[in-house]
Amino acid sequence: GDLTCGIDIGGTKIAGAVVDGDGAILEEARVESPATDPTAIEAAVAGLVAALAARHPVVAVGVGAAGYIDADRSTVLFAPNIAWRDEPLGTDLSRLTGLPVTIENDANAAAWGEFRYGAGRDVDDQLMITVGTGVGGGVIAGGRLLRGGYGVAGEIGHLCVVPDGRQCGCGNRGCFEQYGSGSALVRATREAAVGTSLLARDLLDRAGGDPAAITGPLITAAAQDGDRFAIEQLRSLGQWLGHGIASLVAVLDPAVIVIGGGVSEAGDLLLGPIRDTFANALTGRGYRPQAEIRPAVLGNRAGVIGAADLART
Ligand code: BGC
Ligand code: NA
Ligand code: ZN
Repeated sequence: GDLTCGIDIGGTKIAGAVVDGDGAILEEARVESPATDPTAIEAAVAGLVAALAARHPVVAVGVGAAGYIDADRSTVLFAPNIAWRDEPLGTDLSRLTGLPVTIENDANAAAWGEFRYGAGRDVDDQLMITVGTGVGGGVIAGGRLLRGGYGVAGEIGHLCVVPDGRQCGCGNRGCFEQYGSGSALVRATREAAVGTSLLARDLLDRAGGDPAAITGPLITAAAQDGDRFAIEQLRSLGQWLGHGIASLVAVLDPAVIVIGGGVSEAGDLLLGPIRDTFANALTGRGYRPQAEIRPAVLGNRAGVIGAADLART
């Protein structure tokens, strides 16, 4: 089949890849994401596409972007964590690259990639959750990506899980991603490290003594080395996620739930608590088939592979 270019605009990096009709990557590249400046982001994406298209005959571009995309898969209506407001991303990128451009929500693109070529290949109903800067969701129902009436279905990061809770970038309070994201993990861990510096001593050492220098990868590395404080932080993140998943499963009844995003690199240290909490919270537990919770198998490439495939269809 034709070659297409997949782009994943993340909070810290923009990734690009040339992908074939079997979901295989021929070449990939990534650049730092220019913070949240829409014009600079477009220029960075166009540069990536130009570099890749110079070496491969790509016929179209698919872009996963962390925001609410319109039904035409072209305009970013709104983004909680990037300064996109009614942003004509598809039109701009098409003009800059000279190629047809399809925009899709980043988590939807990742979900599609895992469904077609990864952890959800064997099922028709899959829920994907990405745990990173925000909490992203992608729902595959009956073999199709659920896009809703206006293109913006699956925004699970903005389910209200704590009425009047923490302020969210979307303007509301108490959203799921304020408790279940990588950013939430880091914030909670920094706060706990200040409050209980003895328990957090090992992690603080790794951060050069500065709680503000604690990062997600640092927490994961400490937990993998057996640090109880770091393990506890991942457990508490997993509990938020497990409860959220139980509610989502009550609505969607997916056969498989795929966990991706940067924090999922913690593996069983995160998946274990997610699975335990989910098993204890699911309505009708014990009397219904229990959906399997799997790690993403395409890792941080799910988004580019899924976006490239969506550009083909
Ligand atoms: C955004 C979603 C996005 C998710 C993951 C959320 O804050 O609302 O559109 O998929 O973050 O990037
Ligand atoms: Na989504
Ligand atoms: Zn929100």
